[in-house]
Amino acid sequence: ANLVAVIPAAGVGSRMQSDCPKQYLTIDNQPVLWHSVCRLLAHPLVSQAVVAVSSVDPYIADIQWPEGKPVHIVEGGKERADSVLAGIRYATSQCQADWVLVHDAARPCLRPADLNNLIDSLLAADQGGILAVPVRDTMKRAGINRVISETVDRNALWHAQTPQLFPAQALEQALTQALAAGANITDEASALEWLGEQPLLVEGHADNIKITHPEDLALARFYLSQDVI
Ligand code: C5P
Repeated sequence: ANLVAVIPAAGVGSRMQSDCPKQYLTIDNQPVLWHSVCRLLAHPLVSQAVVAVSSVDPYIADIQWPEGKPVHIVEGGKERADSVLAGIRYATSQCQADWVLVHDAARPCLRPADLNNLIDSLLAADQGGILAVPVRDTMKRAGINRVISETVDRNALWHAQTPQLFPAQALEQALTQALAAGANITDEASALEWLGEQPLLVEGHADNIKITHPEDLALARFYLSQDVI
């Protein structure tokens, strides 16, 4: 199977309160985006990467990618899903992708063992799916007045992470249709759910954080300094 990694990196990171977007903050002298891409390319079945960036991105050209596997740069879009779709279109038309492995640029702490497990499980099942972790806290539903209306059964709740791995054509079609219909698409699985498909969950680890707030960078630096990940 030809797996192509697609990395949306066209966000501006407004919640980070930093000078540059969060995917370009550095850990061990390399941008967060570099760490995320390298972790994907390290898997033997991942043949190349497509990174979607903003049209006015001044940082991407300075990144030194590791030797060996191609890293293509495409222009992203207004929302995350638009950037993902631009990357997938390139992956299917230019890279002969059978499967696309979509991963947030802002998740540099992906464990190699979790990536392995995701790819093995989904290729064996011949079905798309995502890395996810069970919810730990008690979950409440509340209205805008912040009065609790109920406690939600947490046994049925998972945090959706990335990578999300899908057959390339199926995901391209699902995203195209869902976006055209104006559906609220916040990850790849939701585009297939919108079509009535049932993607699989593969259990990962909570340290695969998405860097969002300033304190997350210190946590990512800590996780990446640990041997396990
Ligand atoms: O903003 P959020 O944390 O949801 O972004 C998740 C990922 O999607 C980030 O890697 C960000 O750069 C990317 N993104 C994108 N295009 C956008 C918005 C976000 O590629 N228009």
